Amino acid sequence: MKDAQPRAIYLKDYQQPDYWIDTTALTFELGEESTLVTSTLNFHLNESKTHDSLPPLPLHGTDMELVSVAIDGEVIPADQYQVDKHQLMLQPKSDAFETTIVTRIKPQENTSLEGLYRSSSMYCTQCEAEGFRKITYYLDRPDVMSVFTTTVIADKEKYPVLLSNGNAIKRQELDNGRHMVTWNDPFKKPAYLFALVAGNLEFIEDSFTTMSGREVNLKIFTEAHNITKCDHAMRSLKKAMKWDEEVYGREYDLDMFMIVAVDDFNMGAMENKGLNIFNSSAVLARPDTATDAAFQRIEAVVAHEYFHNWSGNRVTCRDWFQLSLKEGFTVFRDAEFSADMNSRTVKRVEDVNLLRSHQFVEDAGPMAHPIRPDSFIEINNFYTLTIYEKGAEVVRMIHNIVGKEGFRKGSDLYFERHDGQAVTTENFVSAMEDANGVDLTQFQRWYNQAGTPVLDVSDAYDEEKQEYSLTIKQSCPATPGQNTKLPFHIPVEIGLLDGEGEPMPVTPDGKTTTVLDLKDEEQTFVFAGMDERPLPSLLRGFSAPVRLNYDYSREDLVFLMSNDEDGFNRWDSCQRLAIDVLMELVSAIQEGKELVVDTSLINAYGQLLADESLDKAMVAEMLNLPSETYLAEQMDVIDVDAIHQAREFVKQQIAAGLKDQLVDTYKKLRTDKPYQPEAADIAERSLKNTCMAYLTELDDVVGVDLAKAQYESATNMTDTMAAMGCLINASHESAAPAAKMVLAEFAEKWADDNNVMDMWFSSQAGSASTKLETVKALMEHPSYDKKNPNKMRAVVSAFCVRNLVNFHDLSGSGYEFLTDEVIRVDALNPQMAARLINPLTRWKRYDEARKELMQKALKRIQKHELSADIFEVVSKSLA
Ligand code: TRP
Ligand code: ZN
Repeated sequence: MKDAQPRAIYLKDYQQPDYWIDTTALTFELGEESTLVTSTLNFHLNESKTHDSLPPLPLHGTDMELVSVAIDGEVIPADQYQVDKHQLMLQPKSDAFETTIVTRIKPQENTSLEGLYRSSSMYCTQCEAEGFRKITYYLDRPDVMSVFTTTVIADKEKYPVLLSNGNAIKRQELDNGRHMVTWNDPFKKPAYLFALVAGNLEFIEDSFTTMSGREVNLKIFTEAHNITKCDHAMRSLKKAMKWDEEVYGREYDLDMFMIVAVDDFNMGAMENKGLNIFNSSAVLARPDTATDAAFQRIEAVVAHEYFHNWSGNRVTCRDWFQLSLKEGFTVFRDAEFSADMNSRTVKRVEDVNLLRSHQFVEDAGPMAHPIRPDSFIEINNFYTLTIYEKGAEVVRMIHNIVGKEGFRKGSDLYFERHDGQAVTTENFVSAMEDANGVDLTQFQRWYNQAGTPVLDVSDAYDEEKQEYSLTIKQSCPATPGQNTKLPFHIPVEIGLLDGEGEPMPVTPDGKTTTVLDLKDEEQTFVFAGMDERPLPSLLRGFSAPVRLNYDYSREDLVFLMSNDEDGFNRWDSCQRLAIDVLMELVSAIQEGKELVVDTSLINAYGQLLADESLDKAMVAEMLNLPSETYLAEQMDVIDVDAIHQAREFVKQQIAAGLKDQLVDTYKKLRTDKPYQPEAADIAERSLKNTCMAYLTELDDVVGVDLAKAQYESATNMTDTMAAMGCLINASHESAAPAAKMVLAEFAEKWADDNNVMDMWFSSQAGSASTKLETVKALMEHPSYDKKNPNKMRAVVSAFCVRNLVNFHDLSGSGYEFLTDEVIRVDALNPQMAARLINPLTRWKRYDEARKELMQKALKRIQKHELSADIFEVVSKSLA
């Protein structure tokens, strides 16, 4: 370990700081050798705490050189303050004072990508969660909010663009070819929302008139070679601004809103006040460089960061235990925005898929935590699917409990009550309760208890009484530190279908869908006036983030697939049917039995393809078999080889059984109309490419020829990538030469485009046809960059997360590979290392041989000098 073992911090220990900061004035002198930061802070004593005497003032700070400290203009000699690796301790002499602190930092050597760092030719910052303390000594905690004024000084030729939060209030030419710009942000904010950018950047510009008639200038900045890829992000931004006014009544509050694209970024994007900084992969798109999925992700991320201006910035978090206050709420907001802009059901399916294949796994693993954790060692490890996605599901449940209008009343009250404050998840829930007169006391357990609840549902029909009853039992598995759980308040939306597939009334006033409020461990719900035994449609719209068991027959599922009025459940029934068929094959493989695919699945797929009235995007979603990851999630002891084999076999059987229909559908959907990232067109491409993917599973040339032809004639990246992906994935020999040729051509054409090459890398690394040797070779490719997070995700994570058969090879070579990478990356960028290591932490789910190998790998990592990030993940995984 670098220092002493990192220690956990606890929510129960929260205390306000002894001093507040009113104003923060920063001056950055950016130099090639080093950067000088001068900070002038105005403090005053926190009068709401009782003090016997003036308490000391510990300021956070790490990885920098302290040049000088002054209080109220007087330089303090070194024997009157203490400075160590993590803090600067001052002793104030009055209850209001001003500090002037000068620090020297080296952004060009900062590979952690937090604080101030360089990405290609520019300087940029990432301060959430605790990066500001790498820039200067400060009270780096979200409840300390102040007004920032920032002056940036740099060489004018190299860095003509100098940006920070708020409005530019002064520009000046200086000596030696330097220039200076001063920015002021009138809104109080915590340091994690601070941002600075300096570079030789171009921009596109637009404007938005807010609902009260104010004109806002919008700018998106990139390096010159990417300037033609910003239009989609700009359109998305304007849509998001309008939507937030219409749906939440929220107006933008500064005269300027800026987005900057950078290539080196640990996450997707960051909501710094007035100056959002984005991973280039979450902004840049042109039809020939980005897929439909990328276009949609950009729309969602631009909206997400914009929405933070209210849910996160105007009302922020009191401490980092409250992270889901802003993230869960904002993910819910961006999901609803995407649902309104595109297809609501498709968006729901995508989100539930993500939750079930990855968040459920997290919630059952060694790092499981409630959406409001009560302790952590390293906050960076808590930017998780649980905080974001499960957090959004919890907000969605509140939305459904109080209704659309009630939710708006609640959010209005929340923003009004807490504007300019740093608050807690309880404050959010209280606003919802107070605006609607509801009691969410029991519901609040969703914030404090980890783990995915399980619902076991059984039913009975009493012909004589004409009564149907549903009995629901809830339970929740133990998670670290929480052995037993109290019952949750779980809203279970249901409907009942009669023998003709018609919806039956389930409420006294004749509605065909209703929400059952499950609050006890076990409850029975009775429906009267049922003249036949109904088939239940359960957990409609995925009304709660739970696993639901009910003993559906395959006939029931096929019936629901075509008759359920709930679109989400039509898809879910199809998933359940596919899982049932696939898991039966997995058992057959394990028992060495003959493999036969139940024709009910193939027939159901055939009907989907034949029905032209269906939404094509939903048909594509239904034809997509559950991922290997989600299938793994269904097994007590994961058998990656059997899963892969079963899934391949089913794909081949479907392709063989429905070949003519697949070819037909493919040909009907082929078009040469110009590319548009609109829902209807996306749906057609998605179904067309799904058909192609099945056809390339067949060991004949039909599919391969289609894919080759599509690759050659494609006029957009969606079709190009789909064709290339099919050729890479096809397991039979006839596809190999075509795959090789296409890969070479693609790499030559796009060698200079970072984001495009990321797709080239990940489509290979994530494919079961790619062996570890090839993955290692990819990392020696000239377009690879061993320090760049997008490249690590495209190769290392793609291999370890999606290419399960090769990562889990029984030789242990995949584990060794990841171990070496984690150790190497931890020394550069701990946040990234702690994300990469994730697949190794699931060792308990595998067979004895793999368990042992994975534990060995974790123990090898433990022997090194570790960051707090990796220390926390490894020690919790081995506990
Ligand atoms: N607040 C950012 C978001 O929601 C998350 C984020 C971006 C972040 N970059 C980060 C979190 C770096 C931790 C570290 O989109
Ligand atoms: Zn966010």
